[in-house]
Amino acid sequence: MSVVVTVGCQWGDEGKGKIIDFICSEADVVTRHQGGNNAGHTIQVDGKQFIFHIVPSGMLKENTLNIIGNGVVIDPFILIEELDDLQSKGIQITPSRLNISGQAHLIMPYHRLLDGLEEERRGGKGLGTTKRGIGPAYMDKVARYGVRMFDLCDETQLRKRLETVLPLKNSIIENVYGGKPLDLEETFQSLRTCAERLVPFVTDTTDVIANALAQGKKILCEGAQGTLLDIDYGTYPFLTSSNTTAGGVCTGCSIPPMKITNVLGIAKAYTTRVGEGPFPTELYDEEAQRIRTAGPVGEFGATTGRPRRCGWLDLPLLRYAIRVSGISGIGLTRLDILSAVPEIKVCVAYQLRGETRKVFPANVNLLGECEPVYETLPSWKEDISAITRFEDLPATAQSYVHFIEESLQIPIMLISVGPARQQTIVRKNVF
Ligand code: GDP
Ligand code: IMO
Ligand code: MG
Repeated sequence: MSVVVTVGCQWGDEGKGKIIDFICSEADVVTRHQGGNNAGHTIQVDGKQFIFHIVPSGMLKENTLNIIGNGVVIDPFILIEELDDLQSKGIQITPSRLNISGQAHLIMPYHRLLDGLEEERRGGKGLGTTKRGIGPAYMDKVARYGVRMFDLCDETQLRKRLETVLPLKNSIIENVYGGKPLDLEETFQSLRTCAERLVPFVTDTTDVIANALAQGKKILCEGAQGTLLDIDYGTYPFLTSSNTTAGGVCTGCSIPPMKITNVLGIAKAYTTRVGEGPFPTELYDEEAQRIRTAGPVGEFGATTGRPRRCGWLDLPLLRYAIRVSGISGIGLTRLDILSAVPEIKVCVAYQLRGETRKVFPANVNLLGECEPVYETLPSWKEDISAITRFEDLPATAQSYVHFIEESLQIPIMLISVGPARQQTIVRKNVF
């Protein structure tokens, strides 16, 4: 038995989908345990592109069982669209391949509406959310106003929940935001239509996971977002509403902590962020644009299409990510993009109030005062996107990888040099 957890090390979009698709050939079960359709995990296979939002990225591998855990917030309308899209691309969607936790909470139509209204209310001072209703759905989960997949599957229960919750939501929509209230009957009927499609997949996934563990299956837990977007450890309040770090696996898909055998951190060879919030190594103008537009796929959001902010690799940030998730190895992605820069800078520490800090501060209110300390390393000009063996990389690219490993005292197990499955260099086995 082995349980490998993947965690985004930075602010999301590290290339988790690409790496998960690569390593899931060895997995029997692939799970999602947090987030919702704010995630966009891109996978390229045989020239075809797939973007996974709620469904685990293991769906492309025929022999895996995919589980949407209780910690995920599910927009049933979007999930159905995603299933239809996958089916139209020839992916088999059956309950033997996909299980959805009945304990998972729904993103309801009013959550989506409220997310948009709240961003609008804040004007230019919003969080820059994906407006998918993620925050409002997790708010209701914690406030105990949530509606769960088990409720969706039970007509009487669904009506009862809506009768309790919708009047309150409508009052907020109308009186706080001046929005248009939702009709209970219409909302109920549209959700019932979703239920017809989704019921066969809904089950007690605690049972499925326990059986898989008992049978010694290999489980791959697919993290969404990234460490600095974690509700507890991230750049509060500019973050998402779930635990994106390794602990989220235990509460989000009933994996007991002692069963985790490896935590693989996925990190870009530089840093990006989409949405608002602090970003110490951010680059601007041409320098950012050079990174943003290099390579076959530029730095534009897979979910919202927004341009991503780009900056240098930040080692204090990675040390923090390693610390809070117990990361045991790294998958380094988009190394090929650095062929486009004349020289590479790496932030090795922060200067804060006369002191040198090696680790990102938990008190993010201090970030504005943190001055990155950079080391400059030579880059390479060669196109490295067809290289599949570490020793074939240009010496300067190998040095860059060694520099990161030595600085972080952690192995770089995989290196990705392009979006496609085969553009991957394996240095150490993950399972
Ligand atoms: P995720 O959310 O962490 O799964 O990442 P996204 O899919 O949102 O964004 C990563 C983007 O980089 C996608 O367009 C991937 O296809 C692409 N990608 C992944 N790995 C590599 C790589 O090594 N090189 C290049 N050029 N693109 C990559
Ligand atoms: P993947 O899994 C990058 C960001 C949003 C916003 C903040 C809050 O593809 O890496 P939310 O809608 O979650 O309330 O938005 O979090 N964000 C992401 N950024 N990748 C993601 O997912 C993200 N999911 C949310 O841009 O700044
Ligand atoms: Mg993404």
